[in-house]
Amino acid sequence: MPLNLGDTVPDFSCDSSIGPINFYEYIGDDHWSILCSHPSDFTPVCSTELGNLQKLLPKFEKRQVKVLALSCDSAESHRKWIKDIDASGYCGPKKDAGVSYPILADEERALAVKFGMLDPAEKDEKGMPQTCRAVFIVDDHKKLRATILYPATTGRNFYEILRVVDSLQLTDEYPVATPANWERGEKVAVTPSTPDEVAQVVLGDFSVVKVPSGKKYLRLAKDPGYKTPKVLKRGIAETILGTEYGAKLLPTVGRLVFAFALGGIFSSGSSRKTKKYTDATTNGK
Ligand code: BEZ
Repeated sequence: MPLNLGDTVPDFSCDSSIGPINFYEYIGDDHWSILCSHPSDFTPVCSTELGNLQKLLPKFEKRQVKVLALSCDSAESHRKWIKDIDASGYCGPKKDAGVSYPILADEERALAVKFGMLDPAEKDEKGMPQTCRAVFIVDDHKKLRATILYPATTGRNFYEILRVVDSLQLTDEYPVATPANWERGEKVAVTPSTPDEVAQVVLGDFSVVKVPSGKKYLRLAKDPGYKTPKVLKRGIAETILGTEYGAKLLPTVGRLVFAFALGGIFSSGSSRKTKKYTDATTNGK
């Protein structure tokens, strides 16, 4: 069964470039992770990708994301290849940095099959299918949050993966969605189920884009990661205040008081994730 968004990513143990590892132990309880497969060691595009991932590792760490790569080559092959990647300069200017994150050695293709990473069009010299360029973005509850699947001939853009992580972490904490090509600091859209009063409390002033239909669904607010956060958990805000029932239940003033109260509760530390992500956001890219 392929993994769907929201599914728990199963635990596994595997040999790797840094020795045998267990997935859940490696990522711990408070980190997100990205699992990136590539077709084969000692190939050009894969070398540029894995070097690039190493160069971007501080940016992933800032977002509390652990990086893991995977192919169907052996751990010994990975370790030899890392020296080439390092020498190629793709890891960045610092020499001998190598690839420090683990490259999983899925020689039996057990993980590749489990995660649906095999590309039937790409075969090795023995005629065995190789892994495609997959990325699985997993949150700190071990839930699958996003995936991409590229063919062997197209190298990935890891800035896009960082951008997706930024969007997921921001929208977990605020009732917002990120528009096309959004980058940190740019305007965000208020989610459709968020009443104006709640948006005003949580996000501050927002603008409504005038459209011919007259509908007021295109509401744009500042990236809340860039202002003092009045934190309000989206799930509770939307469930209680965003529903028709919530709107009928509480008159406007009552809803405002309720929203303030919730903001106080969450900003006083009951949301484990809030502080770390907003800190990462305000500390620059
Ligand atoms: C590469 O990484 O360059 C590559 C690997 C497999 C097929 C095509 C390209």
